[in-house]
Amino acid sequence: MAKYPLSRRQFIHLGSGAIAATTVAKSILQPRLLSATARPVAPSDTVRFASIGTGVRGCEHLQASLEVPGIQCVAVCDLYDGRHIAAQEAVNNPSVPATRDYRTILDRKDVDSVLIATMDHQHRHIFEDACAAGKDVYCEKPMSHTVEDGFAMVEAAHKHNRMVAVGSQRVSSVLYAKAKEIYNSGKLGEVFSINAYWDRNSPSGAWVYPIPPDASEKTIDWNTFLGNAPKKSFDPVRFFRWRCFTDYGEGLGGDLFVHLLSGIQFIAGINEPALRAQSSGGLYHFKDGREFPDLIETLYDYPNCRLTLRCNLNNNGGEFIGFYGTKGTMIIKDATLTYKPEDTRPEPEGYSVFGWPKALRDQYLQKWHAEHPEPAALRWSVDGEGESYANPPGYSDTVDHQANFYNAVRTRKPVVENEVFGNNAAIGCHLANFSYFNKTVAVWDSSQKKIVKG
Ligand SMILES: NC(=O)c1ccc[n+]([C@@H]2O[C@H](COP(=O)([O-])OP(=O)(O)OC[C@H]3O[C@@H](n4cnc5c(N)ncnc54)[C@H](O)[C@@H]3O)[C@@H](O)[C@H]2O)c1
Repeated sequence: MAKYPLSRRQFIHLGSGAIAATTVAKSILQPRLLSATARPVAPSDTVRFASIGTGVRGCEHLQASLEVPGIQCVAVCDLYDGRHIAAQEAVNNPSVPATRDYRTILDRKDVDSVLIATMDHQHRHIFEDACAAGKDVYCEKPMSHTVEDGFAMVEAAHKHNRMVAVGSQRVSSVLYAKAKEIYNSGKLGEVFSINAYWDRNSPSGAWVYPIPPDASEKTIDWNTFLGNAPKKSFDPVRFFRWRCFTDYGEGLGGDLFVHLLSGIQFIAGINEPALRAQSSGGLYHFKDGREFPDLIETLYDYPNCRLTLRCNLNNNGGEFIGFYGTKGTMIIKDATLTYKPEDTRPEPEGYSVFGWPKALRDQYLQKWHAEHPEPAALRWSVDGEGESYANPPGYSDTVDHQANFYNAVRTRKPVVENEVFGNNAAIGCHLANFSYFNKTVAVWDSSQKKIVKG
């Protein structure tokens, strides 16, 4: 006999692994009621919107908007002329008006809301102007380029009583709704540890986007792009690969951490910045003049849990969030969600008593079994044996996120990922970058609303 025979828990653990691999069927989730296909909207409730910023994400939104009932794109705006055509193509309407100047859109009384999908350093002033003009705002993530920007945007939304959605669309996804349901059910027990990563391994994943051949100062409004950022002569690399530069983006923090943080905030019901964060990482491979690391790992302390995040542009690990609870583990891996319970039934000590004399050990085990009668054999199973869910084929959480926003515009009931939620998630990315660049613990000072050195 082995010195340490398998305990019941270890045995069942091995067994349930086999079950998970063979017999736990994956449930395909159904789109929620708010989803575009399921919810007709009266013509009188049509929301007229304009997209400000029609680059990669703006065009994705315009295409997705065709699936959202009760909305109409009435104008598009971008600083690069090629993107006027791309936007008209995306929305299947070559005659939708296109402009370089978003203020002409805000002046229009027939525009109810705007979708801001510009580089991050441009979010704040467009957001503030849109709120002041009485427009509701869907603003892409990360909401802010700086902590100060974020609080100014919250103030603008509140001052002008605007509906706001921030664009981490996983918050509206059916998969995340299921994960939240599992989290809230208590099936995970207490969750003190959350771990997430998003890894990509390609030039495109590292934002090394090709430059369109017609890019020039004639086709691009370079000075407006710079805005409040330091003056620089025309550089298409900065315009098209802006995420690499601190003047316009926040690197992996703003691009990917903020999605992970928003998903975790939503599922775990957190709506505050972390108390502190500590990052490490480096620029290992993409040494192309960029200012951000291509690998960053950050440890966050929240009042009731610890969270570790990683983004690595040198391995194709995909997207992952794990919630490790006292009663179970829940994993989101790309478009799949699994829940696996822990066997928490009591069992006798099976390790340290092997350092006791046999007589004492037998006495201990006998007493323990007398105090804990085994359940009947047929009732020996791991609770529920796990669950697995997947998105429906072709599912788009961007469509659902838009549908939620336009529903808020009609009903004036705020969405979950409103300006306060979006600001808190963005502060998470600013904490990570502050710690990385200052080589220090970044502490959130909530009274001063700023990040200080720890
Ligand atoms: N939610 C998501 O999954 C997701 C995915 C990609 C990007 N994003 C976010 O969307 C935003 C845009 O990213 P992208 O990849 O589309 O960038 P992009 O460079 O492809 O497009 C940004 C566009 O904004 C335009 N722009 C900048 N300032 C402007 C202004 N003042 N007026 C009008 N147009 C202006 C630029 O001309 C550019 O074409 C970013 O905030 C990014 O973080 C979100």
